[in-house]
This record gives sequence, C-alpha cells and structure tokens, in this order.
Amino acid sequence: MDQLQKKIDLLDKDRIPVHVAMIMDGNGRWAKKQGFNRSDGHAEGVSTVHRVTQMSSDLGVKYLTLYAFSTENWNRPTDEVATLMYLIGWAIERELPELLRNNVRIHLLGDIERIPEEPRQRLFYARDATAHCTGLQLNMCLSYSSRWEITEAARRLARRAAAGELDPENISEEMLADNLTTAGIPDPDLLIRTGGEERISNYLLWQIAYSELYFTPVLWPDFTNEEYVDAILDYQNRERRFGKTSEQVQNNE
Ligand code: FPP
Repeated sequence: MDQLQKKIDLLDKDRIPVHVAMIMDGNGRWAKKQGFNRSDGHAEGVSTVHRVTQMSSDLGVKYLTLYAFSTENWNRPTDEVATLMYLIGWAIERELPELLRNNVRIHLLGDIERIPEEPRQRLFYARDATAHCTGLQLNMCLSYSSRWEITEAARRLARRAAAGELDPENISEEMLADNLTTAGIPDPDLLIRTGGEERISNYLLWQIAYSELYFTPVLWPDFTNEEYVDAILDYQNRERRFGKTSEQVQNNE
C-alpha cells in the first residue's frame, strides 16, 4: 500500500473538516529555487490547485476556499498581475470538464468586477456551468480581502439604517455575517497556509474566529496530497473548545 493510502486510512472519516481554507504561498520562492521566473511558480501552483481540489472531493470535504488573488496583490509588478489573471482564466477553462465530472461547484468571492474582462467571463461561465453541482464547493477568492468585505458589509448595513429600514441596535453578528461574501457558507474548520509564513494576510478574518490553523514550510507547488492529509490528521488530534472548558467539551455540554 502506498504512503498516501496508509495516511488516508488513519483519518477518522466521521471527522473530516467540512470547510478547509488555504493560503497558497510560496510560488515565487519555488520558482526562484529552480532558476525560473515568478510566473512559472504560479503556473506550477495551478497543478497543486488541481490536486487539492481532487483530494478534497475524494475525502468528502464540502467547501474548499482558496486565496487565489488578494486585494493587495494588485500592487505586484504589472507583468506578474497580468500572468496571474491569464493563468486563472486559462486554468478555470481547462479544468471545467473535470470539475463537472467531479460534481464540483465553483463559487467566486471578492471584488470580481476588478478582474479583467476575459478571465472574468471565463470565471462567470464556469460558475454558471457548475451551478447545479452538489459535491465539493470550490470558493475562489479573487481580488479579495477581509477588510474589504467587512467594510462593504458595514456600508450596506449603514445604508439600510440611514434609509430607516434597520434599527442600529438590532444589528447582530448573524446580520453582519449574512452581508459578507461568505454568507450561507459555514466557517472554515481548518485553515492551511503553505510557504513558511505564519500570518493571516487579510484572509477570512471574521470567519476564522474558531478555525484551527496549520502552517507548513512546504512551498505551494510542492504541497502534496500526503501533506494535505497530514494537516487533516493534525486537525483531528486537536480539541476544538469554542471557548468552553475541556471537561464541558468531553461531556458534550
Ligand atoms: C502566493 O505566492 C501565491 C499567489 C499570490 C497566487 C496563487 C495563485 C495560484 C496558485 C494560481 C491560482 C489559480 C487558480 C485556478 C485558483 P507568492 O508569489 O507570494 O510566493 P512567494 O511568497 O514565494 O513570493
């Protein structure tokens, strides 16, 4: 039996995280190590996106959320931004038949209107073509940042309050959550960041309040399915207390 299957067999199939979020870091350093340019690292990163999507689907993860392009990434050199935009459009079109075969539904999070016309149309096409799929939901964060979406939510609620439709005293956590781009999606159980940095970088700040965090030094293009299963095994060994005591959790209170 191969190593991957041995690890998969160790998983508790009843405690697979429902929602896994990932920060795909390290493409640039991977490319540099190989003597390539940064864009080659992003192209290689697309293969890892393919792998983790398939693996998530096979393991029964219901939501996979990928930080493909942040609001701050617009400040990268123009040619790198252009390559990333091209790659995203190209990858989504190339992957669409397999996404459909695997019953994967594409969902887009972020300020999608900022994405250039051609990749945007490909993204919309893939989203619409997979709208009926009932398996894994693949959330692609594009031109996304947490502070952006929280600001947008605040603006929307403030507008309703100013119009007299909403009493500010009645604004609840649920109402705010319902105005984020992730409305209706359960919070991530597990957040994985590759590439060795141990920070959150303006990603899902509201939603990860009780998520388990997993940081690995492995660069995104080198992130294998074995490493993905290692992260889930690590998650399954943790006790999620949501602010309660260990005793309360063990007594199911
Ligand atoms: C961070 O690595 C990675 C990104 C900013 C882009 C990630 C995008 C992809 C893997 C392609 C996405 C494609 C689809 C279809 C979702 P970095 O460049 O910051 O790496 P470094 O820290 O080593 O410089």
